[in-house]
Amino acid sequence: KYIQKSEFKSLKIFYTDEIDSTNTWAKKLAEESGIKTIVCISASQTKGYGRHGNTWVSPHGQGIYLSIVLHPEICTDKLPVITLAAALAAAEAIRECSGVNALIKWPNDIVFEGKKLGGILTEMAADMDGVRYVVCGIGINVNNDTFKDGNLEYAVSLFNITKKKYSRKKLICDITNKFLKYSDAVFKSGNLQPIKEKYKSLLVNIGKTVRISEKKGEFEALSEGINDEGCLIVLKNNNERVCIVSGDVSVRGI
Ligand code: BTN
Repeated sequence: KYIQKSEFKSLKIFYTDEIDSTNTWAKKLAEESGIKTIVCISASQTKGYGRHGNTWVSPHGQGIYLSIVLHPEICTDKLPVITLAAALAAAEAIRECSGVNALIKWPNDIVFEGKKLGGILTEMAADMDGVRYVVCGIGINVNNDTFKDGNLEYAVSLFNITKKKYSRKKLICDITNKFLKYSDAVFKSGNLQPIKEKYKSLLVNIGKTVRISEKKGEFEALSEGINDEGCLIVLKNNNERVCIVSGDVSVRGI
């Protein structure tokens, strides 16, 4: 009811009580349904997953488990900006609804005082003509009490921070509306420009030393900013300036 469907062609919202993973479900629907914009929401996940093959602990009714399918007409190298648009949508919606100082750790983490409040997992299907569809999975720790059954040593929820419980429905609507607006803007312009200043204002990395793990190995560098493609610009110890593309990279040490 509260998601602004009218602006988006053929938007459909799916809700269930339990699913393996909303990302897996969204990919299936994208392959089978022909619907342009798909929003999948579940009250729990039995096989929620995050980046680097991590498990995303998804207890019933406590967190937000949301995946959105889009069909952007862009080439694959422009896709990283979608993750940044989702992170901005989630961080802003959290700040507005709870007053919690949620920030973004490039590219996809929502953090509070160094602990993880949420994360974004973007997956895509492409062929020779370009991107067929993209699935943006958003997980937020909302009313979770403890994280004892998971590996989330550094996790935190809005409830842990404020001792208040929140309407997940309201937060899901706010995140979705913002995400649809921001993703539309970055796809139209083909870069991060329309949301760059907002994203940068919530970014914790700038001016910090980060440890970057790539397939080739690890190195430390100073984060200087982000460019219009959504890459992190870092200065290595040998004074070489490089752009880090999200992909398989892991950035630690905020
Ligand atoms: C990360 O920080 O590594 C990303 C976590 C993404 C979790 C969300 S929850 C909804 C969607 N379904 C999944 O299985 N994963 C994403």
